[in-house]
Amino acid sequence: MKRKSPLRKSKIIAGITGSVAAYKSVELIRRLRDYEADVTAVMTSASLRFITPLSVELACGKKPLTGLWDEPLAHIKTVEGASLFIIAPATASTIAKLANGIADDILPACYLAYTGKTIIAPAMNSNMYAHPAFRRNLERLENDMGVITVGPQSGTLACGTEGPGRMAPVDEIIEAAEAALTPKTLQGKKVLITAGPTREYLDPVRFISNRSSGKMGYALAKAAVARGAQTLLVSGPCALARPQGLAGFVNVETTAEMKEAVLARAGDCDMLVMAAAPADFTPAKRSKDKLQRQDGLNLKLDPTEDILAAVSAMKGKKKKPCLIGFAAGAGPGLSRAHRKLKEKGLDMIVFNDVLREGAGFDCDTNAVVIIGGAHEAESPVMHKDGIAAFILEKAIEKIWKA
Ligand SMILES: Cc1cc2nc3c(=O)[nH]c(=O)nc-3n(C[C@H](O)[C@H](O)[C@H](O)COP(=O)(O)O)c2cc1C
Repeated sequence: MKRKSPLRKSKIIAGITGSVAAYKSVELIRRLRDYEADVTAVMTSASLRFITPLSVELACGKKPLTGLWDEPLAHIKTVEGASLFIIAPATASTIAKLANGIADDILPACYLAYTGKTIIAPAMNSNMYAHPAFRRNLERLENDMGVITVGPQSGTLACGTEGPGRMAPVDEIIEAAEAALTPKTLQGKKVLITAGPTREYLDPVRFISNRSSGKMGYALAKAAVARGAQTLLVSGPCALARPQGLAGFVNVETTAEMKEAVLARAGDCDMLVMAAAPADFTPAKRSKDKLQRQDGLNLKLDPTEDILAAVSAMKGKKKKPCLIGFAAGAGPGLSRAHRKLKEKGLDMIVFNDVLREGAGFDCDTNAVVIIGGAHEAESPVMHKDGIAAFILEKAIEKIWKA
């Protein structure tokens, strides 16, 4: 399924420099082309020692620019109409040139002739990365020129040392690229999102939980960050990479912990999106010792605390955040969602039928109906990133522009 993404059919310049990580640029270009992006690669002279223009051409579907003197004015014409310049990997030397306006190779010449957004993914030895000359150049690029830096990661480097300097994973660069091209419709807003399941323990090793993967909540957090929101994520146990650019991340395990984390932070938020699937039941008694099989087990469960109702009932606060809840239904039926919207004092509710194919728990796609007051909006089955954008855009439209 094609993802809705600002990268789709965009025009991107992919810069490649003389780093051992240069081969990773091929994977990045392929991923950008999955979005049908028009990618033109620009290779420094040094990068040609690490990767062949042929490999890059096969990924891009067109010849890369490899020299300043090959085609007159290529550095000017190539960047016209481009919406993003991604330099990955970016060497210390190229970063120094960009920061100081030196245009003695095709890549820095293109950069100087370009006026849009730029992302760099530095890759180098840890000592080079820590050098004051490099730090000064990087700071100048970020602060004076608004260049977005992704990574580097720490780990074992090609030179055999350990430390920061590995190029950021391609996934992170794609995430940053999507964020860079997303309009900042939540700039200045504080958004709190809950995600994932919770666990209610019977004994020290066993718990009751549910099939929630956290993918919907994490997609919402990424979408909020991309829109410029100061984003807090309160997450139950999930096996997902933490979204980049969060203002805060709180790991919780039980429904009571999730409630406490949300209530402590909801008061100064503009929007609260409760995408988590907290366990509804908790064992009436939690055994301190591991329960033994031969003893058998009669389980009595109590209801857990209702986080949404607690937020909705928040008193003594200057303002209550705009509240968005989720209603998971087994089968169609919006009446329960309408009831929950009213009963819990929500501004919007997102209904999804977990039995529908391509929707619900633990899958990459979802399909939802958004109910806000008298309005209803239905999405098709989409990747959860697209659903997250759909939800936030409806919230912005209905709640703040109403
Ligand atoms: C084997 C080898 C690996 C290198 N890897 C890196 C690297 O990862 N990062 C870096 O900043 N420089 C690295 N360099 C140094 C650059 O290739 C050198 O500074 C070059 O002039 C960079 O040119 P460019 O920025 O125009 O591509 C490496 C050099 C060699 C010989």
